[in-house]
Amino acid sequence: MCGTVGLFAGCPLADVCPKDLLRGTGAVTPDDADYASAFEAWDRQASVRTAPRRVVADGFSILQAFPAELTPLLRSEALATLAPEAAGHLKVQQLYRFLDFTAKLEHLVVNRTALRIAHGSLGLALPEPMVFDAYRISVDEAYHALFSADLVRQVHRASGVAPELPERPVFLQRLTGLMEAHPERRALVELLFVIVSETLITGNLGDVGRADHVDAAVAQTMKDHARDEGRHHAYFATLAQHLWAQMSAGDRRFSTAVLPDLIAAFTAPEVEASRRDLEALGLRPGVVDDVLSEVFSEEAVRASARGSARRTIDLFLRLGAAQYGDERLTAHADARADVAVAT
Ligand SMILES: [Fe+2]
Ligand SMILES: [Fe+2]
Repeated sequence: MCGTVGLFAGCPLADVCPKDLLRGTGAVTPDDADYASAFEAWDRQASVRTAPRRVVADGFSILQAFPAELTPLLRSEALATLAPEAAGHLKVQQLYRFLDFTAKLEHLVVNRTALRIAHGSLGLALPEPMVFDAYRISVDEAYHALFSADLVRQVHRASGVAPELPERPVFLQRLTGLMEAHPERRALVELLFVIVSETLITGNLGDVGRADHVDAAVAQTMKDHARDEGRHHAYFATLAQHLWAQMSAGDRRFSTAVLPDLIAAFTAPEVEASRRDLEALGLRPGVVDDVLSEVFSEEAVRASARGSARRTIDLFLRLGAAQYGDERLTAHADARADVAVAT
C-alpha cells in the first residue's frame, strides 16, 4: 500500500520509494492555468462511461479475428498459400496476444504511474487539474484491461480456440531488464516507458479499428480504446514536458540514451510465441525458422519501431533531447525518418 506516502512515518519502503528515486532539479511550481485538460468532457466521452460492452456475434469466425496486415506471420511469402483456416489460427492467436499485451500493459505498468501521479508519489510537481486527470486515466486503463480480458474470454468461447499466451510478454521482460540494469533510475525508466507507450499506442489501435474484414466487436473495442488514448496521448506529452523541465542534466542525458532501448522494448516482436503458432500448424522446423527470420529480420523490426516511434521521438527532440547526445536519437533530427532504434 504505497499510496500512503506521508501518512506513516518510518515507511519500510522509503529506500525504494519512487518519490526519492525520481529526483528533479527542484524549485518548480507549475501553474494550474498553463494546463489545458483533454478530460473536461471525460464523463461524456470516456468509453467506460459511454460505450456498451462489445459482444462477439453468434457465428464468430477466426478468419475475422484480426486484420491479416497486422498479423506479422501472414506477411511471409512462404505462407502466401496458407489455407484460410490456418491463417485464421494465426490471426486469432495474434488477437489474443494483442489483448493480453494490452491488459498487462494497462494494469501492470501504465496504471502504476497513473496511481503514483494521482497520489503524489511520483516526485514531480504537476498542476492540480493534471493530478486529478490521473484518476480518470487510471479508470480508463482499468477498463481497457477489463474489456481486453473480456474479449479474450468471449473469443475463446465462440471459437473454441484456446489462447496460447507467453507467460510474460516480451515487452515486460525487456522493461524489467532495463529497470534492473539501472537500479538507481528504476522509477525514471518506468516513467519514460509509460510515456513511450502512451504516445505510440494510438496509431496501432486505430489501424485495427479501421481494418476491413474484422469482427465488429473486435473493431469496436479497438475504436473505443483509440478514442480514449487520443486524450492520453495529449496528457503524456504534457507530462513529458514537466518531466523534462524538472530533470537534472544527468537525468536528461540518461533519458536520451535509454529512450531508443525503451522504444525497442515496447515494439519487440513475440518471436517465440510466433514460433509456437507455426509449429501448431504442423510446418517443418526449417520452414518455421525461415518464416521467423524473414518476418522478424533485424531490418523489419527496426523499420516497424521507427515508424511507430516517430511522434515520440519528435516529442523528445522538441523538448531539447538532441543536445544531450545519443546518436540513435539525434540521427532522427537530421534524417527525420531514420533514427536507428536499438533492437
Ligand atoms: Fe489504454
Ligand atoms: Fe492510455
